[in-house]
Amino acid sequence: MKDLFGNALLDYQNGNYTEDIMTSTSISDEDILPLPYLFRDFKDMPSLEQKALKLAKGSVLDVGCGTGSHSLFLQEKGLKVKAIDISKGAIEVAKKRKVIYAEEKNVLDETGSFDTILLLMNGTGIFQELIHVSKYLSHLKSLLNLKGQILIDSSDIKYMYEDEDGGFWIDTNSSYYGELDYFLSYKGEEEVPMKWLYLDFETLKMACETVGLKCELVLEGKHFDYLARLIPAEAGIL
Ligand SMILES: C[S@@+](CC[C@H](N)C(=O)[O-])C[C@H]1O[C@@H](n2cnc3c(N)ncnc32)[C@H](O)[C@@H]1O
Repeated sequence: MKDLFGNALLDYQNGNYTEDIMTSTSISDEDILPLPYLFRDFKDMPSLEQKALKLAKGSVLDVGCGTGSHSLFLQEKGLKVKAIDISKGAIEVAKKRKVIYAEEKNVLDETGSFDTILLLMNGTGIFQELIHVSKYLSHLKSLLNLKGQILIDSSDIKYMYEDEDGGFWIDTNSSYYGELDYFLSYKGEEEVPMKWLYLDFETLKMACETVGLKCELVLEGKHFDYLARLIPAEAGIL
Protein backbone atom coordinates (compact mmCIF):
# COMPACT_ATOMS: atom_id res chain seq x y z
CA MET A 1 0.00 0.00 0.00
CA LYS A 2 1.37 3.43 -0.97
CA ASP A 3 -0.87 5.16 1.60
CA LEU A 4 -2.12 7.81 -0.84
CA PHE A 5 -5.21 8.02 1.41
CA GLY A 6 -2.99 8.96 4.35
CA ASN A 7 -1.01 11.43 2.21
CA ALA A 8 -4.23 13.16 1.18
CA LEU A 9 -5.40 13.40 4.80
CA LEU A 10 -2.02 14.83 5.82
CA ASP A 11 -2.17 17.43 3.03
CA TYR A 12 -5.58 18.55 4.21
CA GLN A 13 -4.55 18.64 7.87
CA ASN A 14 -1.41 20.63 7.03
CA GLY A 15 -3.32 23.26 5.04
CA ASN A 16 -2.20 21.95 1.64
CA TYR A 17 -5.67 21.09 0.29
CA THR A 18 -5.62 21.43 -3.48
CA GLU A 19 -7.59 18.42 -4.70
CA ASP A 20 -9.78 15.53 -3.58
CA ILE A 21 -9.31 11.76 -3.65
CA MET A 22 -10.75 10.04 -6.73
CA THR A 23 -12.29 6.59 -6.35
CA SER A 24 -13.90 4.00 -8.59
CA THR A 25 -14.95 0.37 -8.22
CA SER A 26 -15.34 -2.72 -10.35
CA ILE A 27 -19.01 -1.77 -10.87
CA SER A 28 -18.95 2.04 -10.80
CA ASP A 29 -17.28 4.95 -12.55
CA GLU A 30 -14.97 7.51 -11.10
CA ASP A 31 -16.30 9.50 -8.15
CA ILE A 32 -14.95 12.22 -5.88
CA LEU A 33 -14.25 11.56 -2.21
CA PRO A 34 -14.10 15.12 -0.81
CA LEU A 35 -11.33 15.42 1.77
CA PRO A 36 -13.36 17.72 4.07
CA TYR A 37 -15.88 14.88 4.52
CA LEU A 38 -13.19 12.79 6.19
CA PHE A 39 -12.80 15.58 8.78
CA ARG A 40 -16.55 15.91 9.47
CA ASP A 41 -17.91 16.82 12.86
CA PHE A 42 -21.01 15.37 14.54
CA LYS A 43 -23.52 17.67 12.82
CA ASP A 44 -22.26 16.69 9.34
CA MET A 45 -22.28 12.95 10.01
CA PRO A 46 -24.99 10.70 8.54
CA SER A 47 -27.72 9.76 11.03
CA LEU A 48 -26.41 6.17 11.22
CA GLU A 49 -23.06 7.43 12.49
CA GLN A 50 -24.71 9.86 14.90
CA LYS A 51 -26.79 6.98 16.26
CA ALA A 52 -23.70 4.80 16.68
CA LEU A 53 -21.95 7.55 18.62
CA LYS A 54 -24.98 7.96 20.89
CA LEU A 55 -24.97 4.20 21.61
CA ALA A 56 -21.22 4.04 22.33
CA LYS A 57 -20.33 3.44 25.99
CA GLY A 58 -17.39 2.50 28.19
CA SER A 59 -14.01 1.85 26.62
CA VAL A 60 -14.14 2.22 22.84
CA LEU A 61 -12.08 0.84 19.96
CA ASP A 62 -12.50 2.89 16.76
CA VAL A 63 -11.44 0.51 13.98
CA GLY A 64 -10.28 2.16 10.75
CA CYS A 65 -10.48 5.52 12.50
CA GLY A 66 -9.26 7.61 9.54
CA THR A 67 -8.72 11.16 10.80
CA GLY A 68 -10.36 10.25 14.13
CA SER A 69 -13.62 12.20 13.73
CA HIS A 70 -15.68 9.65 15.68
CA SER A 71 -12.95 9.15 18.27
CA LEU A 72 -12.68 12.89 18.91
CA PHE A 73 -16.42 13.22 19.51
CA LEU A 74 -16.43 10.37 22.02
CA GLN A 75 -13.24 11.52 23.68
CA GLU A 76 -14.79 14.95 24.19
CA LYS A 77 -17.80 13.23 25.80
CA GLY A 78 -15.39 11.69 28.32
CA LEU A 79 -15.15 8.15 26.94
CA LYS A 80 -11.84 6.32 26.83
CA VAL A 81 -11.05 5.73 23.15
CA LYS A 82 -8.39 3.82 21.27
CA ALA A 83 -8.23 4.63 17.54
CA ILE A 84 -6.49 2.28 15.11
CA ASP A 85 -5.88 2.36 11.38
CA ILE A 86 -3.54 0.65 8.93
CA SER A 87 -2.83 4.02 7.30
CA LYS A 88 0.29 5.68 8.75
CA GLY A 89 -0.84 9.07 7.43
CA ALA A 90 -4.31 8.71 8.95
CA ILE A 91 -2.83 7.97 12.37
CA GLU A 92 -0.48 10.93 12.09
CA VAL A 93 -3.50 13.13 11.34
CA ALA A 94 -5.58 11.62 14.17
CA LYS A 95 -2.73 12.41 16.58
CA LYS A 96 -2.41 15.96 15.23
CA ARG A 97 -6.16 16.38 15.80
CA LYS A 98 -5.55 15.38 19.44
CA VAL A 99 -6.87 11.84 19.52
CA ILE A 100 -5.13 10.80 22.73
CA TYR A 101 -4.55 7.15 21.89
CA ALA A 102 -4.10 6.48 18.16
CA GLU A 103 -2.03 3.65 16.79
CA GLU A 104 -1.05 2.37 13.33
CA LYS A 105 -2.38 -1.17 13.56
CA ASN A 106 -4.36 -3.78 11.65
CA VAL A 107 -7.48 -4.73 13.62
CA LEU A 108 -6.43 -8.39 13.36
CA ASP A 109 -3.34 -7.50 15.46
CA GLU A 110 -5.38 -5.80 18.18
CA THR A 111 -5.48 -7.65 21.51
CA GLY A 112 -7.16 -5.26 23.96
CA SER A 113 -10.66 -5.58 25.38
CA PHE A 114 -13.41 -3.04 24.91
CA ASP A 115 -17.04 -2.23 25.76
CA THR A 116 -17.75 -0.78 22.31
CA ILE A 117 -16.10 -1.47 18.96
CA LEU A 118 -16.93 1.00 16.20
CA LEU A 119 -16.58 0.26 12.49
CA LEU A 120 -18.04 3.18 10.54
CA MET A 121 -18.28 4.45 6.93
CA ASN A 122 -19.05 1.02 5.53
CA GLY A 123 -17.45 -0.81 8.44
CA THR A 124 -17.71 -4.18 6.68
CA GLY A 125 -15.34 -2.88 4.00
CA ILE A 126 -12.27 -3.93 5.95
CA PHE A 127 -13.41 -7.59 5.82
CA GLN A 128 -12.59 -7.34 2.10
CA GLU A 129 -14.32 -10.52 0.90
CA LEU A 130 -17.18 -12.69 2.12
CA ILE A 131 -14.78 -15.54 2.82
CA HIS A 132 -12.99 -13.45 5.48
CA VAL A 133 -16.07 -12.25 7.35
CA SER A 134 -16.13 -15.01 10.00
CA LYS A 135 -12.43 -14.53 10.73
CA TYR A 136 -12.90 -10.79 11.33
CA LEU A 137 -16.13 -11.21 13.30
CA SER A 138 -14.63 -13.91 15.58
CA HIS A 139 -11.62 -11.72 16.21
CA LEU A 140 -13.79 -8.68 16.96
CA LYS A 141 -15.86 -10.80 19.34
CA SER A 142 -12.68 -11.86 21.17
CA LEU A 143 -11.97 -8.15 21.86
CA LEU A 144 -15.33 -7.56 23.56
CA ASN A 145 -15.90 -7.32 27.28
CA LEU A 146 -18.77 -9.40 28.66
CA LYS A 147 -21.51 -6.80 28.00
CA GLY A 148 -19.69 -5.37 25.02
CA GLN A 149 -21.10 -4.38 21.62
CA ILE A 150 -19.93 -3.92 18.05
CA LEU A 151 -21.53 -1.07 16.10
CA ILE A 152 -21.06 -1.46 12.38
CA ASP A 153 -22.60 0.09 9.28
CA SER A 154 -22.88 -1.11 5.70
CA SER A 155 -25.22 -1.05 2.67
CA ASP A 156 -27.05 -3.52 0.51
CA ILE A 157 -25.64 -2.46 -2.86
CA LYS A 158 -27.96 -4.68 -4.90
CA TYR A 159 -29.49 -1.46 -6.29
CA MET A 160 -26.21 -0.78 -8.12
CA TYR A 161 -26.93 -3.78 -10.34
CA GLU A 162 -30.41 -2.62 -11.33
CA ASP A 163 -30.91 -1.78 -15.01
CA GLU A 164 -33.35 0.71 -16.48
CA ASP A 165 -36.15 -1.89 -16.74
CA GLY A 166 -35.95 -2.67 -13.02
CA GLY A 167 -34.16 -5.99 -13.64
CA PHE A 168 -30.89 -7.00 -11.98
CA TRP A 169 -27.75 -8.04 -13.83
CA ILE A 170 -26.14 -9.87 -10.88
CA ASP A 171 -24.24 -12.95 -12.05
CA THR A 172 -25.41 -15.60 -9.58
CA ASN A 173 -22.52 -17.89 -10.60
CA SER A 174 -19.91 -15.36 -9.59
CA SER A 175 -18.89 -14.16 -6.12
CA TYR A 176 -21.15 -12.27 -3.67
CA TYR A 177 -22.45 -9.04 -5.25
CA GLY A 178 -21.12 -6.85 -2.43
CA GLU A 179 -17.49 -7.81 -3.12
CA LEU A 180 -15.90 -4.93 -5.02
CA ASP A 181 -12.50 -4.04 -6.33
CA TYR A 182 -11.79 -0.53 -5.10
CA PHE A 183 -9.49 1.89 -6.89
CA LEU A 184 -8.21 5.11 -5.39
CA SER A 185 -6.04 7.84 -6.87
CA TYR A 186 -4.71 11.10 -5.52
CA LYS A 187 -2.88 13.83 -7.41
CA GLY A 188 -2.68 11.59 -10.48
CA GLU A 189 -1.06 8.66 -8.65
CA GLU A 190 -2.86 5.32 -8.36
CA GLU A 191 -3.06 3.29 -5.15
CA VAL A 192 -2.65 -0.49 -5.23
CA PRO A 193 -6.20 -1.84 -5.88
CA MET A 194 -8.04 -3.01 -2.75
CA LYS A 195 -10.92 -5.36 -2.02
CA TRP A 196 -13.85 -3.65 -0.31
CA LEU A 197 -16.94 -5.48 0.96
CA TYR A 198 -20.51 -4.22 1.27
CA LEU A 199 -22.73 -6.63 3.20
CA ASP A 200 -26.52 -6.69 3.17
CA PHE A 201 -28.02 -7.01 6.65
CA GLU A 202 -29.27 -10.61 6.28
CA THR A 203 -25.86 -11.87 5.13
CA LEU A 204 -24.18 -10.06 8.04
CA LYS A 205 -26.71 -11.55 10.45
CA MET A 206 -26.10 -15.09 9.16
CA ALA A 207 -22.33 -14.64 9.43
CA CYS A 208 -22.77 -13.37 13.00
CA GLU A 209 -24.75 -16.45 13.97
CA THR A 210 -21.93 -18.75 12.82
CA VAL A 211 -19.51 -17.09 15.27
CA GLY A 212 -21.85 -16.70 18.25
CA LEU A 213 -22.83 -13.07 17.82
CA LYS A 214 -26.38 -11.75 17.92
CA CYS A 215 -27.04 -9.16 15.25
CA GLU A 216 -29.68 -6.47 15.69
CA LEU A 217 -30.77 -3.91 13.10
CA VAL A 218 -30.52 -0.55 14.87
CA LEU A 219 -31.35 1.91 12.12
CA GLU A 220 -31.84 2.03 8.37
CA GLY A 221 -30.55 4.95 6.32
CA LYS A 222 -32.15 6.58 3.31
CA HIS A 223 -30.24 4.59 0.71
CA PHE A 224 -30.13 0.86 1.55
CA ASP A 225 -27.61 1.57 4.32
CA TYR A 226 -28.01 0.40 7.89
CA LEU A 227 -26.43 0.35 11.34
CA ALA A 228 -26.18 -2.98 13.16
CA ARG A 229 -25.37 -3.80 16.77
CA LEU A 230 -23.65 -7.12 17.50
CA ILE A 231 -23.36 -8.64 20.96
CA PRO A 232 -22.01 -11.99 22.12
CA ALA A 233 -24.83 -14.54 21.98
CA GLU A 234 -23.95 -15.62 25.53
CA ALA A 235 -24.61 -12.07 26.81
CA GLY A 236 -28.33 -12.83 26.64
CA ILE A 237 -31.31 -11.16 25.06
CA LEU A 238 -30.66 -7.91 23.20
C1 LIG B 1 -13.71 4.35 4.63
S1 LIG B 1 -12.37 4.73 5.67
C2 LIG B 1 -13.28 5.24 7.10
C3 LIG B 1 -12.52 6.16 8.00
C4 LIG B 1 -13.30 6.65 9.22
N1 LIG B 1 -13.85 5.56 10.01
C5 LIG B 1 -14.40 7.61 8.82
O1 LIG B 1 -15.57 7.25 9.00
O2 LIG B 1 -14.10 8.72 8.36
C6 LIG B 1 -11.78 3.09 6.16
C7 LIG B 1 -10.54 3.15 7.01
O3 LIG B 1 -10.23 1.81 7.44
C8 LIG B 1 -8.83 1.64 7.40
N2 LIG B 1 -8.58 0.17 7.39
C9 LIG B 1 -8.75 -0.69 6.35
N3 LIG B 1 -8.46 -1.95 6.72
C10 LIG B 1 -8.10 -1.91 8.03
C11 LIG B 1 -7.71 -2.89 8.96
N4 LIG B 1 -7.61 -4.19 8.63
N5 LIG B 1 -7.43 -2.51 10.23
C12 LIG B 1 -7.52 -1.19 10.59
N6 LIG B 1 -7.89 -0.21 9.74
C13 LIG B 1 -8.19 -0.56 8.47
C14 LIG B 1 -8.39 2.42 6.18
O4 LIG B 1 -7.03 2.75 6.20
C15 LIG B 1 -9.30 3.65 6.27
O5 LIG B 1 -8.72 4.69 7.02
